[in-house]
This record gives sequence, structure tokens and C-alpha cells, in this order.
Amino acid sequence: MKVLVTGGMGYIGSHTCVQMIEAGIEPIIIDNLCNAKEMVLDRIEMISGVAPAFYHGDIRDESVLDSIFTEHDIKAVIHFAGLKAVGESVAKPLEYYDNNVNGSLVLARSMRKAGVKNIIFSSSATVYGDPASVPITESFPTGATTNPYGRSKYMVEECLSDLFTSDPSWSITLLRYFNPVGAHPTGLMGEDPQGIPNNLMPYIAQVAVGRREKLSVYGNDYPTPDGTGVRDYIHVMDLADGHLAALTHVGLKSGLHIYNLGTGKGSSVLDMVEAFSQACGKGVAYEICPRRAGDIAECWANTEKAERELGWKATRSVKEMTEDTWRWQVANPQGY
Ligand code: NAD
Ligand code: UD1
Repeated sequence: MKVLVTGGMGYIGSHTCVQMIEAGIEPIIIDNLCNAKEMVLDRIEMISGVAPAFYHGDIRDESVLDSIFTEHDIKAVIHFAGLKAVGESVAKPLEYYDNNVNGSLVLARSMRKAGVKNIIFSSSATVYGDPASVPITESFPTGATTNPYGRSKYMVEECLSDLFTSDPSWSITLLRYFNPVGAHPTGLMGEDPQGIPNNLMPYIAQVAVGRREKLSVYGNDYPTPDGTGVRDYIHVMDLADGHLAALTHVGLKSGLHIYNLGTGKGSSVLDMVEAFSQACGKGVAYEICPRRAGDIAECWANTEKAERELGWKATRSVKEMTEDTWRWQVANPQGY
């Protein structure tokens, strides 16, 4: 079965492609390489033994999408392509809405033309905003987002839901990721942020490898056990497997399917620093700084729905997340 993977050269997409190939599914990748390197294709091949078909193109270019659907008998689309830096989205809202919202609309239009009505969309726990309580279930209210990136995810969820209402023969799966971290256990693929990392794990990894002096811990006065922010970190390989489970169980069935992809467990910033120190065998320098604007105290998933309906559950521990990240970072200190 052929599946179009938009943004398949990126962090989550590349790991998902490897797992797809191992499961006998053929990924066809489109990526404009705005946040990825072509070398990722070699790494996918080194790990899986297969170099997937790759189109260097933009999802906003409808003619490229149309020609891919003509060339290949594509059954479904996994839609990762998008911009994801929260701070940048505040500075460049038009670029974010164009890429993330308009890009998704162009993709859906091309799919409709081709009669491909199965899409799995990369959404985020950010659509829940600051939740009233934890753990978060899929029925929690969405939309109280705090930045253009988060709003773009919420808007695409709404657009795709309206599309389903207009034509219930679509299969629309919204996967709300919690905090993806970790790397492929071979150390050949991982997260490769450009510039100064915004997210916790890549920042810790760069301190540990000597690229940055110390981690700024954004606040230790939250109402959490150690005062630092608590998140649901999920290994990228578990996340990749979650896409396969979604594809297999609901991805080809008409319906609007919504799932949290998390572990159901929260870890604090200092828990992650400690776990990483264990993984790399040395201390990770940090200092306590003021809170970061827009951050929430705690966020973790209720994972029962995915477990029940997709037969999927995250199995990899925080220890594996940090050890795999470290293996990738040491082997690729400057990224790809
Ligand atoms: P990433 O930046 O590594 O991957 C996205 C890929 O899409 C990149 O390879 C980029 O070059 C490509 N791309 C961007 N715009 C494109 C366009 N217009 N046309 C073609 N290709 C384009 O990001 P990621 O971490 O792998 O995230 C994948 C998806 O998951 C994104 O939609 C992101 O918003 C979502 N998500 C990520 C996280 C996270 O923490 N990483 C959390 C929740 C949701
Ligand atoms: C962030 C985004 C969210 C996005 C997610 C995944 C914000 C406000 N939210 O989530 O929309 O979906 O990334 O890409 O940016 N931390 C530090 N020091 C650092 C970096 C982070 O202490 O240098 C802390 C944060 O305060 C937070 C935790 O680490 O408590 C995790 O932060 P991060 O990795 O940025 O993820 P989120 O904030 O959960």
C-alpha cells in the first residue's frame, strides 16, 4: 500500500517512514526541505534498506500534488508538513497560516480531486490550551490556543472536521501529539533543530555535547512537585508506531477519528535533566530563570482511547528517550 507522507523528511515523518517500511507500507514523501536535509533519505535507506520515492516540493503547489496522485496509487496521506516554532509563529503569523492552514487546504483539495479521502493529520496537545485538569482526554475543549502556531493546528482540525461533515465518506484522523522526544535507536536519525533549540530535550542534548553552556529552566514556582513544568514526553518511535496503529485501525475507515498520542505520564524539567545526566554520564549545567510566556504548569494525556480503539500504547521509557537522544547527539553533534 502506498501512502503519501507530507513532511516525511522531518523529525517525526522520517521515523514514521522507517516504521512504515518495516511494516510493508510504501511511503511516498513530499517535503520542501525548509526544515530538513536531503541526507535524511540516505539515513532512512541505511536503516530500512529502502530509499522511498521523494518529491522535493511544496504542499501549497497543487500541481505537484496532483501529479503525485496521478503517478501513484495512493491510499492515504499522513500529513506532517508544517512550521512548528511557537516564537517564530508570533513574529510571522501570515507565514504560519499560509504554510500550515493554506497548505492543508491545498492538500485536501488535491486529495478530493484524486478521490483519496483518507488523511491522518499531525495535530498537537497545544489545541487544548491550558487544560482545566490533567490528564487530558480527547473530549476536553479545544481552541483556547495562545499563539499562531497553536491556532493554525486548531484551524486545520476545524477545517478537516467541516470537510467530514460535508462528505462523511472521508476518513479524517486527528492525532494530538504530546511532547515528542528521542531518536532512532541506531543513532542515525533524530531531531535536528536549526539555530537555538526552543524545546527542552534538544537544548539539554546540546548542553551535554558542549554546544551550549547551560540550560535555562523556565520557572521553578509552578504548582508541581518540584516547581518546574511537567509534560508528557513520548518517544518518537512510539509516536511513529502510533501512526501505523491509526492507519491500520481507523485510517482507511470513514469517520472523524481523534486521538491523543502520549504516554499518560508526566515528567518535570528537572526529571528530564536528571534522566539525561544518567544517560550521558555527566551533569547537565542549568540555571533557574523566570517563567517563559505562554507556558502552562502541567500537561499530560489520558491515553485510554488510543489504547482501546487503536490497540496502541507507548512502551518506551524516559530512560530510552534520553539514551537514544544522547546516542544520536554524540554521533551527530552538529545534526545531519
Ligand atoms: P519538522 O519540522 O522536523 O518536520 C516538518 C517537515 O515538513 C520538515 O521536513 C519541513 O521541511 C516540511 N515542510 C514544512 N512546510 C512544508 C511545505 N509547505 N511543503 C512541504 N514540506 C514542508 O517537524 P516535526 O517535529 O517532525 O513535526 C511534524 C508535524 O508534527 C508538524 O506538523 C508539527 O506541527 C506537528 N507536531 C510536532 C510536535 C513536536 O514537538 N515535534 C508536537 C506536536 C505536533
Ligand atoms: C512547546 C510549545 C507547543 C508545541 C510543543 C512541541 C510553547 C509555549 N509550547 O511545548 O505549542 O506543540 O513545544 O513542539 O512553546 N523548558 C525549559 N527550558 C528550555 C526549554 C523548555 O525549562 O530551554 C521547559 C518549558 O518551560 C516546559 C518544558 O521545558 O515546562 C517543555 O518545553 P518544550 O519542550 O518547549 O515543550 P512545550 O512547552 O510543552
